[in-house]
Amino acid sequence: MVALLDRVATVDTLEVASRRVLVRVDFNVPLTPEGQVSDDTRIREALPTIKLLIEKGARVVLASHLGRPKKGPEAKFSLAPAGERLAELLGQEIILTDDCIGDGAKKVVTDLREGRVALLENLRFHPEEEANDEGFARELARLCDIYVNDAFGAVHRAHASVDALPRAVPQRAAGLLLRRELEALGSLVQSAPKPYIAVLGGAKVSDKIEVIEALLARVDALLIGGAMANTFLAARGKPMGKSLVEGDKLATARDVLERAHARKVAIELPVDLVVAESVSASEGRVVDIESVGPNDMALDIGPKSVAAFSARLFGAKTVFWNGPMGLFEKAPFAAGSIGVARAIASSGGFTVVGGGDSVAAVHQAGLGEKFSHVSTGGGASLELLEGRKLPGVEALRQ
Ligand code: 3PG
Repeated sequence: MVALLDRVATVDTLEVASRRVLVRVDFNVPLTPEGQVSDDTRIREALPTIKLLIEKGARVVLASHLGRPKKGPEAKFSLAPAGERLAELLGQEIILTDDCIGDGAKKVVTDLREGRVALLENLRFHPEEEANDEGFARELARLCDIYVNDAFGAVHRAHASVDALPRAVPQRAAGLLLRRELEALGSLVQSAPKPYIAVLGGAKVSDKIEVIEALLARVDALLIGGAMANTFLAARGKPMGKSLVEGDKLATARDVLERAHARKVAIELPVDLVVAESVSASEGRVVDIESVGPNDMALDIGPKSVAAFSARLFGAKTVFWNGPMGLFEKAPFAAGSIGVARAIASSGGFTVVGGGDSVAAVHQAGLGEKFSHVSTGGGASLELLEGRKLPGVEALRQ
């Protein structure tokens, strides 16, 4: 048991038969333009907790947010598609309430029989959710006897269903997914075996600066790709053409490079890139890092960079990856992310990937099973690595 879980009960220790158990899940899943769930990972990952509660005869009330609605209820943010997918996966009916609080929800929960599941409509249809409003939390608390948090993806949000609600319910616990996430990610911050290598990508240095700071104290090497590498390369004086570069973060990037050097942490940047004239190009060209032309836009790392990153990753005992190496959603710019995913998967170490895009790249490469842990939380996993307290976990402590 890791320190993150100190004084946090887990759902499998609770007496739940006949009790109303509200489970905060993270069903914030991507939808197709037709409103179908396009990636059900987060729903499937919540199944062990839901099935456990069903088997033990609990009356299960699920609560989640979806998207960032700002104008009250909006059909495109309904949890109906997530409920339908859950019903298929569980093979039983899921009752969706018309609102997450109020008489309708109360009646559904009161009538809910043992082993049955209700899903409350999107919590964020009420602005009080994001405001961590205690009155709203008390309304939700009326719907349950026990609170379980299994929404790792949302534990970094001090929102009502994550923070104020568990504090208003006498019995509270972590779900099985939350426990698994905290154990896996917790081991990255507590004496992770070395060599420990972090691979960071994605668009912006500014989004990752805090996690970089935290990682510099722990890792042996930091491999940087994706558009954020452009800013580091520009800071080293490389020509970047039309590539995305955060001009106001060059000093920050230089500072990181200097501090890494002082701490003897190796920083690997791309040595070649796949470039094109625009993001809508149907093919790219591999260029050496010194030869990026004025009209070139870096959209992936090149094969020499993949080889250099792979050589570093070979034999690593611990690897954390967040952020793709390029515009992997487009086939001509996917090779860098797929290559890095393969190298991490075959490193032989304890491997963790977090963040929607890098997780999607891992699945695209068919390597989900080859990672030690695929996290359902992007922002949450970064905040955990930064060493920040996660409101949703703190609220569970007894
Ligand atoms: C996520 O998708 O990262 C979580 O569900 C949190 O969503 P949010 O960033 O809209 O709070």
